[in-house]
Amino acid sequence: MTHLYERSIEIILENQSATGAYLACPNFPTYRYSWFRDGAFIAYAMNLVGQHESAARFHEWAAGNILARGDVVQRALGKAALGQPLEAQDILHTRYSLHGDETEEDWPNFQLDGFGAWLWALQQHQALSQTPISQACMQAAAMAADYLAALWRRPCYDCWEEFPDERHSYTLAAIHGGLRAYALLSGDERTSTLAAISQTLLAAAADAGHFVKFIGSDAVDASLLGIVVPYAVFPPEHPLVSATVQEIERRLAKDGGVHRYAWDSYYGGGAWVLLAAWLGWYYAEIGDTDRATATLRWVEAQADALGQLPEQIPTNLNDPDYYEPWRQRWGDIANPLLWSHAKYIILKSMIAAA
Ligand code: BGC
Repeated sequence: MTHLYERSIEIILENQSATGAYLACPNFPTYRYSWFRDGAFIAYAMNLVGQHESAARFHEWAAGNILARGDVVQRALGKAALGQPLEAQDILHTRYSLHGDETEEDWPNFQLDGFGAWLWALQQHQALSQTPISQACMQAAAMAADYLAALWRRPCYDCWEEFPDERHSYTLAAIHGGLRAYALLSGDERTSTLAAISQTLLAAAADAGHFVKFIGSDAVDASLLGIVVPYAVFPPEHPLVSATVQEIERRLAKDGGVHRYAWDSYYGGGAWVLLAAWLGWYYAEIGDTDRATATLRWVEAQADALGQLPEQIPTNLNDPDYYEPWRQRWGDIANPLLWSHAKYIILKSMIAAA
């Protein structure tokens, strides 16, 4: 579809609330909230297309949510300093209602990557919009940086909201990228924390010969692409980066689509649109415009007649038996997913800039 780019911007803007929050998906009941993780990438996409005001409004919303929870952050820092476990009331949630409220329903809320992604996107907003970051955003960013620096060693739910007892390489990469972004904004360099995080990533990769889904595993997860784009914890030419991408291509990429991880069974474990775009982003980063363009075409082919990109395509399912049970439980696959549109915009922009 030739107009998917314009349509993607339109869909994102239509689903940005007056509060600044971006809905993850407007018509999938479970996703009628705004996530720090999705929102960070959506805001970045908006910066890339010159919609700086939209990105600024999201960042103010995100900052407001953190500032309203100074007591939570203080409790988390206090307990971290004493090495105590965190209770439900000591953590920042991963998603909020459009008005910034925590949700009533039970949800795997302890996820650290979204705050790293947010710090990264905030600094990108400053660089791309060439406007100073507001005082509220700077204050919230300082709180988020403290929170991440205090908690990064703790297991938490991953970016797919699973495996709470593990320490995830993508999460560590997002924290690393976020803390470096915060250093650029504030001059507050947390050198020893950064070094410890990259050491942890390297040590976890040593046995497998590539970065791993979580510490102690030898599996790959397509989100490991985040180590190189956008968080640049290691450069694309690092041997572990190329080995990781090869494993992702070998184990998770099929017929143009990219799966989250080999035994993912959410909606049967289909091909995620945003992950194909993410792999394409990596190809653009290494100057392989042909492969980047091929993934762009695959993504474009997944749009429906209304120019909407879903979360995933139910092809080459890892575990077909789980497709129908998820449909019964939560309805059809989320469509449109704003994060899919954001990743499409990012990929298209990266190819244009290459
Ligand atoms: C995904 C998360 C995402 C959320 C909202 C979940 O199914 O695993 O990564 O943030 O949906 O889009």
